[in-house]
Amino acid sequence: MKMVVAYVRHEAFEPIRGELLDLGFPSLSVSEVKGSGRQKGITERYRGAELTNYLRPKLKIECVVEDGDVQTIVDTILKHARTGAVGDGKVFLVPVDESYRIRTGEAGSETLQAHSTDDLPPK
Ligand SMILES: Nc1ncnc2c1ncn2[C@@H]1O[C@H](COP(=O)(O)OP(=O)(O)OP(=O)(O)O)[C@@H](O)[C@H]1O
Ligand SMILES: [Mg+2]
Repeated sequence: MKMVVAYVRHEAFEPIRGELLDLGFPSLSVSEVKGSGRQKGITERYRGAELTNYLRPKLKIECVVEDGDVQTIVDTILKHARTGAVGDGKVFLVPVDESYRIRTGEAGSETLQAHSTDDLPPK
């Protein structure tokens, strides 16, 4: 199992989420973060003064999947998050040792995403 961690522009999230859902990966987390990359910050003029913003807002996506699904997730993120301009973001792969579904106590990769055999509670 791996956690795909991606820092992307806000606009990239909806297209990524939509395609991951279509591909059978509905389970993920997203959070608002601030960060900096190689450019360190951007300098703007405000009332005549130069101000440098060292931190830029990004969305952090976390999606844990089986090893065999990692490339699908990465490809989907790259496809929708790449504009070609600086600041498009980064993707990292983090090893995950174990997973538990709290409701049932089940463990293992079966708990990661939706499976057709799942006994989901009524909507
Ligand atoms: N090594 C890193 N560790 C943790 N977060 C990072 C790292 N690199 C980038 N990020 C996160 O990704 C965001 C976007 O990074 P960014 O796309 O600017 O990377 P970059 O290396 O400067 O590439 P580019 O030259 O395309 O801008 C950062 O604001 C930060 O939140
Ligand atoms: Mg950058």
